[in-house]
Amino acid sequence: MYKINYNIALIGFGGVNRALVNIISINPEKFYREMGFNICIVAVSDIFLGSVYSPEGIDLDLLNELPVAKGAFASLRNGNAKADNEDIIKNSNADIIVEATVTDSVTGQAAISHCRWALANGKHVSTTNKGPLAFAEKELIDLALKNNVSFEYEGVVMSGTPVLRFADKLMKGSEINKFTGIMNGTANYVLGLVEQGQTFTDAITSAQQQGFAEADPSADVEGKDVMLKVIVLANRLWDANLTQDDVKCEGITSLSEVMIKEAVAEGQHWKLIGEASKKDDGSIIASVSPKKLDLLHPLSGINGVVNAITFTSGMLGDVTISGPGAGRTETAYAILSDIIAIHQHVNV
Ligand SMILES: NC(=O)c1ccc[n+]([C@@H]2O[C@H](COP(=O)([O-])OP(=O)(O)OC[C@H]3O[C@@H](n4cnc5c(N)ncnc54)[C@H](OP(=O)(O)O)[C@@H]3O)[C@@H](O)[C@H]2O)c1
Repeated sequence: MYKINYNIALIGFGGVNRALVNIISINPEKFYREMGFNICIVAVSDIFLGSVYSPEGIDLDLLNELPVAKGAFASLRNGNAKADNEDIIKNSNADIIVEATVTDSVTGQAAISHCRWALANGKHVSTTNKGPLAFAEKELIDLALKNNVSFEYEGVVMSGTPVLRFADKLMKGSEINKFTGIMNGTANYVLGLVEQGQTFTDAITSAQQQGFAEADPSADVEGKDVMLKVIVLANRLWDANLTQDDVKCEGITSLSEVMIKEAVAEGQHWKLIGEASKKDDGSIIASVSPKKLDLLHPLSGINGVVNAITFTSGMLGDVTISGPGAGRTETAYAILSDIIAIHQHVNV
C-alpha cells in the first residue's frame, strides 16, 4: 500500500533532533509537496528532558519552544519528567525510530539496544550515532533484513554530505578498491590554525570556542572518531566486518608544530587521513594517521571544518566528494535523507 504519512519517535532530543523538528515545521505544505509524504512526530524521549507520547502527533511549535531544562517534557500534555525509551520504541505507534542520543565510543550503548528494540519490533531506524555501527553493524543489518524494515545511517560518516549513498548507489559496480578521507573537521581546523602559526593548545581552544570541538577533544585529535567512521564505511562498501582491533590509529597529537610549519615551507600539508583498501585476496587494510600531502593530492586543499573522501575505483579512478562533516541542521538533513530512503523502500 502506498504510504504517505510516517509516525516518528525521536530518541534523544539534543541539537540534531531539534534541528530535524525545525526543518519539518518550517513549511509543512512545501515539505509534503517536495517529499511526497508527511512526517508526524508522535513521541520523544530524552534522558535529560523526559518523554512525551501522543499517538495523534505532538504540536511541533511546542517541541521547537521546549526549554533545555531537566524534566521539561512534564509540562506538555501526555508528558513525563522521565525518559521512556524502551516503551516508546517497542509500544508506540511510530513507524520510524530516529536514534540521536550521544555516541558512546567504548560500548556503543545504549544506542545499540534502541536500534535492536526498534528493528525487532518491525520499526525502521535512522541513526546518526556511530556507536551502533561501530559495534553491532552486522547484527543490526541482519535484524532489519529479517524483519523487512530499513536500517539507515547516512549521517554517521560525513553528516549531511551523502557519502554512503554516493559510494553505495552512485558508484555501485565501479569496483571501488580504496578510499582516503579527511573525516574530522575539528582535527583539520586545528591543523590549519597551526599552519598559520598558532600553538596546538590555542588552536584547540579556538575550535572549542567555535563549537567544533567537545570540551574533551581527545576523540577528534587522537583519531578515534575517524577510526569509527573508517570502520562504518569499509563495512558498508565491502561487507568487511572490521572492528576497532583491525584499524591502526594515530592522531594529530603525534605531530609537532615545527613539523607542520616545515611541511608548509615545502609546499605540503599534514592532514589526518582515514583510509582503507581492498586487496586482491579480498583482505582489507585500514588505518588512521597523519599524512603529508603534496599540493596535487585531491585532499590537500580541504581546509577548515570541511570533510572530503576520495574513492578510488577500477573504472573511474579517483572520485572525490566534499562537504560539511558536522552541524546540527546538516546532520538533521542526513536523517531526512534516511527517511526518504525508507519511503522509497516502503513504496517499491
Ligand atoms: N551534531 C553533529 O554535528 C553531529 C554530526 C554527526 C553525528 N552526530 C551524532 O548524532 C547524535 C546526536 O548528536 P547531537 O549533537 O544532537 O547530540 P546532543 O546535543 O548531545 O544530544 C543528545 C541528547 O540525547 C540525550 N541522551 C543521552 N543518552 C540518552 C539515552 N540513553 N536516552 C535518551 N536520551 C539520551 C542527551 O542527554 P544528556 O545531554 O543529558 O546526555 C542529549 O539531550 C550523536 O551520537 C552524535 O555523535 C552529531
